[in-house]
Amino acid sequence: MTIDLAALPQDFLWGTATSAYQIEGAVAEDGRSPSIWDTFSHTPGKVDGDDHGDVACDHYHRWREDIGLMKELGTNAYRLSVAWPRVVPGGDGPVNGKGLDFYDALVDGLLEAGITPSVTLYHWDLPQVLQDRGGWSERDTAHHLAAYAAAVAERLGDRVQHWTTLNEPLCSAWIGHLEGRMAPGLTDLTAAVRTSYHLLLGHGLATQAIRAAAPGAQVGIVNNLSSVEAATDRPEDVAAARRMDGHTNRWWLDPVHGRGFPADMREVYGVELPEREGDLATMAQPLDWLGLNYYFPSAIADDPTGPAPYATEVRRPGVPRTAMDWEVDAAGIESLLLRLTDEYGARRLYVTENGSAYPDVVRPDGTVHDPERAQYLEQHLAACASAVRKGAPLAGYFAWSLLDNFEWAYGYDKRFGLVHVDYRTQKRTVKGSGRRYAEIIREHGGSERRAA
Ligand code: FCB
Repeated sequence: MTIDLAALPQDFLWGTATSAYQIEGAVAEDGRSPSIWDTFSHTPGKVDGDDHGDVACDHYHRWREDIGLMKELGTNAYRLSVAWPRVVPGGDGPVNGKGLDFYDALVDGLLEAGITPSVTLYHWDLPQVLQDRGGWSERDTAHHLAAYAAAVAERLGDRVQHWTTLNEPLCSAWIGHLEGRMAPGLTDLTAAVRTSYHLLLGHGLATQAIRAAAPGAQVGIVNNLSSVEAATDRPEDVAAARRMDGHTNRWWLDPVHGRGFPADMREVYGVELPEREGDLATMAQPLDWLGLNYYFPSAIADDPTGPAPYATEVRRPGVPRTAMDWEVDAAGIESLLLRLTDEYGARRLYVTENGSAYPDVVRPDGTVHDPERAQYLEQHLAACASAVRKGAPLAGYFAWSLLDNFEWAYGYDKRFGLVHVDYRTQKRTVKGSGRRYAEIIREHGGSERRAA
């Protein structure tokens, strides 16, 4: 398939993305303390196959090889996350220099390879000690995030320009505290709503802290938004889709854009927010960019008996699905990029994650044939270019993921990598989709541009 990517800007970032707990392993090395994901994954029955991140891709020891893979793909950017429990093992208080040393060396390695690092501070791995003190239900956690962010920015800010405060706060709040399918595994609407509030407060405080420690830092937030449609034109389903839009999109976008929390959703949740004067202004720090993680669209129907927002996803017949059972439809990425541009006035956008899981196997000849993933990549990149033609200020794309990795509650069974990982031997094999990505980057002039 030839895809028209001519609309993408000359200095486009062609990246891959990962996160700390999903790839690093080395959970007890160099002073790292347990995170809520260590606790959750070691609680029997929480993760498929009772998998955990103790070793994962052993990236903590193999990062040089992994930078080599990024070079092989021809990428010029890499989105990584820093593990809070490595850097501030006590949750708050003393900084662990050894924890920072790891990221320091990684950043130097990336820069030497001509790869721009994009650093996420919080990709869900809250130090367990803070959870023991109430976690995100407590206001203090927001302040601790900011102090940790300052420590990282002070150390890396002379070389790192791209900073993300939070990855997908929706998952932390709704999936972790309301649906219970992710750490810390609660099913408590009040805790979930308080968590959402404190996460966004933490985002604002961390934004200020990063900028104070690293002048010139480009700070953004990463949301997984959903292109939501009503499953039918029944008024109940239309109202449910509106609620789902509030739950997954507006609740997270409006406060950081100075619009406060959506009134309709406050009513749906019926939970008092832990508001204090000045908080909304803190949450609404002007941002340099917005990150979109996009995987699938959803058709929504009314579900009066389900948890808030009393709306559920409906299976559309005949739509292709990935191994996650997620619909494949690239139209959603385009419409969300345009919505961020038109409704929220985004000045710069990145697709910070996009990708697909399929049950890959290494063939006897040593190759991995994954044409569905290559096609998913092509379709979504083409949709990105189309959004750019219509005015979206898209400046980069990060494929999820560089490597197969620990896919949270799904364990190692769900493979999203452009590079296959054999978890027994830690052997990495670039998949067909990885080669296709390299070809696309080459055709679009990425490597030449980087070298120039
Ligand atoms: C996103 C997460 C990322 C990964 C992908 C598949 O929600 O940010 O860590 O698990 O989904």
